[in-house]
Amino acid sequence: MPTHELQQALDDLYRRYQSTSHGQLATYIPELGNANPEDFGITIATADGAIFQTGDFDRPFTIQSISKPFTFGMALEEFGEEEVATRVSVEPSGDTFNSIELQSGTNRPHNPMVNAGAITVTALLHSRHGASTFDLILDRLSAAAGRRLSIDERVYESERRTGHRNRAIAHLLLNFGLVHGEAERALDIYFRQCAILVTCRDLAMIGATLANMGRNPITGTPVFDIVSVKHMLSIMFTCGMYDYSGEWAYRVGVPAKSGVSGGVVAIVNRQMAIATYSPRLDARGNSCRGINVCVGLAARFGLHAFDCVNVGSSFLQSVL
Ligand code: DON
Repeated sequence: MPTHELQQALDDLYRRYQSTSHGQLATYIPELGNANPEDFGITIATADGAIFQTGDFDRPFTIQSISKPFTFGMALEEFGEEEVATRVSVEPSGDTFNSIELQSGTNRPHNPMVNAGAITVTALLHSRHGASTFDLILDRLSAAAGRRLSIDERVYESERRTGHRNRAIAHLLLNFGLVHGEAERALDIYFRQCAILVTCRDLAMIGATLANMGRNPITGTPVFDIVSVKHMLSIMFTCGMYDYSGEWAYRVGVPAKSGVSGGVVAIVNRQMAIATYSPRLDARGNSCRGINVCVGLAARFGLHAFDCVNVGSSFLQSVL
């Protein structure tokens, strides 16, 4: 049987970028500095459950900031758009993800993708669910991945010990009444959610669950409400790659989210998700190879939302 066009594209991109060594491991969470800089995996999962993958697609890494759109979706489902909007805005900040700042005028975090916004969202969930909040987050991500996920205790401990910047952010939020009095407990859950272990395959399935209108394409389990999927994808489109979000939208043109351990997930609405893992990051905290792979796939298949050759909702039919 001839190699599928998508598999061919992944293999080509893997070969092309395998030898590149731009970027640095994140070390501000000391345990992340122990990652193997050479690791490189790519998975595509389609909205109807087909999987294509190459390289270290089964290597576990911590999800980090890629958890943020999903906790935002959970908060939207539970508290509704209006209540969530009183605590966190939806504007790109143009600043680094860990800025200790709020939006001027509103005194709210700029958006739920920067640390201030994500901690606010997790605190909101914690205000209702207390000690069971982390299990709810883990359950939801596990359902999206289609298997039971777990956390990397060493990365969690490492961030808990050294996360003074996030602690400063949590106290800033407390000062402005954006989080309840148990900010430290909420922060602990935020550290745990960031330490959830995934592989490229898991991330691609989580992304494909969004592409498939909130339902895991393989297990058929409904995981996210269709309205929150729209909101999650919107915020990933405008803010998912931090202070690179504008250029990402320009060059790749699909919603995406990166994490500081080296993961990237990009979603082609109603079609598929691309997940990459390579821990060398650029100055903005995005995986260097991950960006290159997504740029390459978007160019090769015309995935950009506004590409004149974008075949939109008929992309898969055209290649399968
Ligand atoms: O809060 C932090 O700094 C990390 N746990 C997550 C940051 C992150 O993944 C930013 N991504 N590029």
